[in-house]
Amino acid sequence: MRVGVIGGGFVGTALVQLLTDPARHAALVDGATAPLELVGVAVRDKKRPHPGIDDALLTTDVDALIANDLDVLVEVAGGVEPCRTYLESALKLGVSVVTANKALMAESGTQLAQLANENGADLFYEAAVGGAIPILRALRSSLAGERINRVMGIVNGTTNYILTKMTSEGSDYESALAEAQSLGYAEADPSADVEGFDAAAKVQILSTLAFGTRLSGEEIDREGITGIRALDVEFARRSGYVIKLLGVAERVGDSGVSRRAHPAMVPIRHPLASVNGAMNAVFIEGVKSGPLMWLGQGAGGEPTATAVLGDVLDAARNRVSGRHDIPFSGDTSLHYVPGGALSSVFYLSVDVLDRPGVLAEVAGVFGRHDVSIRSMEQEGFGDEARLSFLTHHAISADVFATVEELAGSDSVESVGACIRVIDGSFE
Ligand code: NDP
Ligand code: HSE
Repeated sequence: MRVGVIGGGFVGTALVQLLTDPARHAALVDGATAPLELVGVAVRDKKRPHPGIDDALLTTDVDALIANDLDVLVEVAGGVEPCRTYLESALKLGVSVVTANKALMAESGTQLAQLANENGADLFYEAAVGGAIPILRALRSSLAGERINRVMGIVNGTTNYILTKMTSEGSDYESALAEAQSLGYAEADPSADVEGFDAAAKVQILSTLAFGTRLSGEEIDREGITGIRALDVEFARRSGYVIKLLGVAERVGDSGVSRRAHPAMVPIRHPLASVNGAMNAVFIEGVKSGPLMWLGQGAGGEPTATAVLGDVLDAARNRVSGRHDIPFSGDTSLHYVPGGALSSVFYLSVDVLDRPGVLAEVAGVFGRHDVSIRSMEQEGFGDEARLSFLTHHAISADVFATVEELAGSDSVESVGACIRVIDGSFE
């Protein structure tokens, strides 16, 4: 089995080490049911040091690598283009493809799967969601016949690492992000992580496999963690919550599906609250299976490479046996329900002018938008005055309208966080 790899970074290097480890050789041959030969590793810049990869394997000529009689092409480079073009070229030649590229799979996964099928090749992407966690294979095979109502989890290691550091060590946001980058968790452009794009791409992939949706990547409500301040983390801790970035895909009524990636205050008794650092966790609620949960290392070169390697072995085994995976047909009747239509408890933090009547004015804004306040606390005085609210269940669009009116109010300096609160152990 001739294997080519595009990408010699955190994941690519760890994969090359696994593929060339003599102690694993027999297990690899057994898993693939054929000997594997690593033909080459494509990078952008051969002069940059690539420790752990034999110089003789490095190339910058991706097209030549693809055309070199490959059986399996692994793409661990990242970014939509030129990777989409590379994968299309390989699939058209009947070469099976393994990728960890969630941005690409979220945008073009359906078309690439179709192309793979037309050319008798496989397209596997287990590492694209949850790092080492085998969640996509579970959805594709073990749960293929189950009706799934909800998929919810922590699906971004970088933001979970940052929020954990802010919560447990009082670290500041910038230094926690720099650590996540140096540990190989973050995307090349870390705004993909902290602005929620990476989690949204994973929600797109999960909802396609869980529900068969054929919705566009635009039809996901996305919020990142950049607006979360140390004071929000501290308020959450005092109130019995931790802040996590969640990815959620859930059925709404008979024909709707809500897809969201946003921070949420999670009660400390909730199983997700203790998922820390770069760990990921995914809950699935099936009608007959009941709740299921997966937990594991969601980012980092070595854990991710194990998922890539499993896909390589599956693709190799399929080529030996002359079969390939058939893509799902999908359920085009499901429509997207915008997050604003859903009800939730919210936490809001509002910096106000500390003067008589301000509280009544602010409370009036909540009332005008039908948002009922569950509790309120004031901290600080004068220029430092801040009000923290927890609401009762309210329609999210009404809460967003409250935020908008508060932001324009003369009594309000600024509206800080507006974060959903998970109310109930498995809500
Ligand atoms: P890195 O930035 O560490 O490495 C990227 C590698 O790809 C580099 O070797 C780079 O070359 C090479 N590369 C980039 N563009 C091209 C191109 N056009 N042609 C040839 N080579 C190219 O990324 P990671 O290893 O962290 O991630 C790789 C992929 O895996 C991404 O899609 C990421 O989203 C995904 N992923 C990453 C995880 C992680 O924890 N890191 C987890 C799950 C998925 P050069 O060395 O010359 O710069
Ligand atoms: N940047 C991603 C994360 C890598 O932090 O989760 C794993 O997909």
